[in-house]
Amino acid sequence: MAHENDKRLAAEAAVAEIAEGMRVGLGTGSTAAFAIEALARRVAEGLKVEAVATSDATAAAAFAGGIVVRDFADFATLDVAIDGADEIDGDLRAIKGAGGAMLREKAVAAAARRFVVIADGSKRVERIGAAPVPVEVLPFARASVLARLEALGAAVTVRPGYETDNGNLVADCRFADLSDPHALAARIAAIPGALGHGLFLDEVDTAYIAAEGIVTRLERDRSSR
Ligand code: 5RP
Repeated sequence: MAHENDKRLAAEAAVAEIAEGMRVGLGTGSTAAFAIEALARRVAEGLKVEAVATSDATAAAAFAGGIVVRDFADFATLDVAIDGADEIDGDLRAIKGAGGAMLREKAVAAAARRFVVIADGSKRVERIGAAPVPVEVLPFARASVLARLEALGAAVTVRPGYETDNGNLVADCRFADLSDPHALAARIAAIPGALGHGLFLDEVDTAYIAAEGIVTRLERDRSSR
């Protein structure tokens, strides 16, 4: 229950950043759902925004909340995207995709001028890597993709009975060694038939993390890059 309150607080802090006329990417999951609720309240008060959704569930929730939902296929850029995470560390490296939406989430994050993660304190880790890295797998290439993921050192579990909104499989990959996540991300991305993965290493600009009712804002220093 405490986590639910912290999710709500983090979500409300991020939604407070949204200004009139913005084009907003909406993430997927239970924390993102609080952001949708908070944005719906602001829209009911008169805020005008256009949103794109990272999943069918998010599109339905946003629409039900009275938010104008557009087709992301028509948007080259967005002002901001707000989304949850499964793990996030102090360098704002995240693992996402427990909800299976990481492919669309990454496309939306990449289009956004600012990508904001919202999370309760249980998601804050010293170093990412305890959570499995979800990989979206083209069913046509299932066995060969799984074999290549295993060759990278992953213990792989295909989510049973699960299909992404794109009609693909999700392989949850547990890596014993995530000491070089950028190298691992490049290797996963190079597998033909691996369509996307949940390592978000450079995307996050800001994180609002709420623990025991206190919201902390973390900001990536882009000047040193
Ligand atoms: C969905 C995601 C979610 O943002 C992530 O799994 C966090 O979900 P929750 O807020 O329910 O803990 O990446 O693909």
